[in-house]
Amino acid sequence: MKKGIQVAIDGPASAGKSTVAKLVAKRFNYVYCDTGAMYRVVTLAALDQGIAVTDSTQVSQLAREIKISFAPGEPEQRVFLNGRDVTTAIRQGRIDQNVSAVAAIPAVREEMTNQQRQIAEEGGIVMDGRDIGSTVLPNAPVKIFMVATAHERARRRYVENKAKGIATASLEELQKEIELRDQKDSSRKVSPLVQAPDAVRLDTTSLTIDEVVDRISTIIEKTLNEL
Ligand code: DC
Repeated sequence: MKKGIQVAIDGPASAGKSTVAKLVAKRFNYVYCDTGAMYRVVTLAALDQGIAVTDSTQVSQLAREIKISFAPGEPEQRVFLNGRDVTTAIRQGRIDQNVSAVAAIPAVREEMTNQQRQIAEEGGIVMDGRDIGSTVLPNAPVKIFMVATAHERARRRYVENKAKGIATASLEELQKEIELRDQKDSSRKVSPLVQAPDAVRLDTTSLTIDEVVDRISTIIEKTLNEL
């Protein structure tokens, strides 16, 4: 059997990356790694300890000290902070509002990038985030850049929050939040959200989840055949 490859899926908030990445990983029996969840865990740890997310020295130290881990789970993968299950806690509004500041700290990104490279080392991985194809795994043979309009992304997040029973802001508020986060993620100095030159751009606004999964799977199969 051929060795599993690295699949990088990037794009702005709520473009459907994690839903699709999970399904693609399942189809190929690859490991799935949600790198956004890692920045969320650091943010949660800082807020819990009363550390200001703008205090880059303390937040960076915290990022190096805490243990972030994942475990398979249904319907979703579980995320742990020092062994504590924080899968739901990292999706709270207070994390949404503070995570961009944490993700903009260079030493935090350096630590997360190192951990992500270790996780991806063996191949057979689908990793989603903002800078996977451009910075974390620049040699990944498959790179996808998923986009959708801010309106459609807000709608998806709204439906998702409702389904998960998470207290949700209105559709309009969610759209504003998403646009603000896009702007922050795209304009930060270190590893901004940019499409890698060799990434395939996929606009998912009017595509179903299955259609997106099929398109990415076709790209992976073609790449595997060429190896
Ligand atoms: O995908 P998400 O909403 O869970 O990401 C949370 C935040 O983390 C988002 O503001 C962007 C940031 N992020 C990042 O800077 N780099 C990544 N590889 C993944 C996420």
